[in-house]
Amino acid sequence: MKDFKSSTVYQIYPKSFLDTNGDGLGELQGVIDKLDYLKELGVDYLWLTPFFVSPQNDNGYDVADYREIDPRYGTMADFDDLVREADARGIRLMLDMVFNHTSTQHRWFQKALAGDPVYKDYYIFRKGKPDGGPPTNWESKFGGNAWEYVPAFDEYYLHLFDKTQADLNWENPAVRREVQDIVRFWMDKGVKGFRFDVINLISKGEFTDDNEGDGRRFYTDGPRIHEFLKELNRESFGRDAEIITVGEMSSTSMENCCDYAGADSGELSMVFSFHHLKVDFMGNEKWVLVPADFLKLKNILFSWQQGMAAHNAWNAVFWCNHDHPRVVSRFGDEGIYWKESAKMLASVIHCLRGTPYIYQGEELGMTNAHFTDLSQYRDVESFNHFQILRDKGMSESAAYEILKVHSRDNSRTPMQWDERENAGFTAGTPWISVNPNYRNINAQSQVGDPDSIFSYYQALIRLRKEHPVLAQGDFEPLDQEHPSVLAYRRDWQEESLLCINNFYRKPCRWNCPVPLEGYRVILSNYPDGEPNNPMELRPYESLILLRDGGSSK
Ligand code: GLC
Repeated sequence: MKDFKSSTVYQIYPKSFLDTNGDGLGELQGVIDKLDYLKELGVDYLWLTPFFVSPQNDNGYDVADYREIDPRYGTMADFDDLVREADARGIRLMLDMVFNHTSTQHRWFQKALAGDPVYKDYYIFRKGKPDGGPPTNWESKFGGNAWEYVPAFDEYYLHLFDKTQADLNWENPAVRREVQDIVRFWMDKGVKGFRFDVINLISKGEFTDDNEGDGRRFYTDGPRIHEFLKELNRESFGRDAEIITVGEMSSTSMENCCDYAGADSGELSMVFSFHHLKVDFMGNEKWVLVPADFLKLKNILFSWQQGMAAHNAWNAVFWCNHDHPRVVSRFGDEGIYWKESAKMLASVIHCLRGTPYIYQGEELGMTNAHFTDLSQYRDVESFNHFQILRDKGMSESAAYEILKVHSRDNSRTPMQWDERENAGFTAGTPWISVNPNYRNINAQSQVGDPDSIFSYYQALIRLRKEHPVLAQGDFEPLDQEHPSVLAYRRDWQEESLLCINNFYRKPCRWNCPVPLEGYRVILSNYPDGEPNNPMELRPYESLILLRDGGSSK
């Protein structure tokens, strides 16, 4: 049985991973073909983003049938092969379950639209305001009002995301039973992990206007959320002690996360929260250009580390996923310190208390897409917000600059396997353009090179298994107010680990508050990294130091 605290999860966006049949879209067979690569990297779980039947308006997060594989991604036989082949390599699968909403193509929604009262109650239909406008002023996360009008009923249905993603009514016990049944279906197929998409939005509170915001305070971490999660746990995945779960928590609070992922709360194994990835937003407003606030980033990361530990709750720790730009472009350097900065960012995450997640290509230092034209984009959120910015009077070129930084498509360009055309991703035309830097950044040139970013990730994954301090240790920030160094200490029994990082290109001198006697470098992104005090940290330098003979506290 795997211990999720010493495990590493690798996220696959199958559409952009590997295309084996030349249609320009990756599929499950592509994942099977690359299992040896993933085994070599050393990861324990593969989280696959949704490959269920879907019209793909939100790339599969609009599910039309939770029990069938979309033919674009393969067949159930491919899925069974994937489970078996992964298992043979000691790798388990984590599926992505989207239960806040379904596609409007889902049979349930179609029946609801046809007027079947049983299925209408699976969704959230409401009368408009007396003036005929939507029931509340809530905003969709993808832009615009969150209610869509259905003339036949003279009612609106709620969609917190795209209008083709209708929110499910979790107040209805029949909906909750359906969901439990779907989870059990995939458990029977040998799935050992689940990621629950925006799961903290499922319990809606009051349906009233939000005069202070976009409505999120009425449904985020809503009134019955803990009850719903406990029930789902009890009725499905909680029956198999080997299964791990992670909840994607949108705009959540630490207080709630201590319960979602508390060791004894009977809800989930761990949570994703995103506050640390909003340090280059303006409040919750993502579609702006604001420099990243480093002190805020540290404060958020560190307070979550400490707060969750104090409540014996567990974090998922990560920089990247399919909804965020590439971290090396965001907080690192795409230029001469590309390699050093990518490795430094990896150290920061992988030495934290929590289960690290790697998003495909992160282990190669893949960068943002740098698209320059709307025709290169594919993401519904990017299109909607581009239009919103234009409607506000912003020039086209200014709107492009914002998309370039924040668009989700930055992370969705195809995986860069080798130097062949289209980076070896497809023999056809890729559904989204390959990043032109693939001749410099690709797996083939990195696997087996001891100095590569890939090898650095390999080393970090291995360290977590070799040194219990990484999985079990306490967390203590070091010199938290320092303007360019991100450093912390982990302690567990006889082991003490220091993770020290210069977050910037500018060299800096740093006084480590911990006496360094007895510590040795176990990993660094410079060949001759040495623990002297004070330290002269080079551009993006990262040092991981270990002492295994007792603590100096
Ligand atoms: C999550 C997914 C994102 C999707 C949204 C709606 O945030 O990660 O890709 O668009 O939920 O399902």
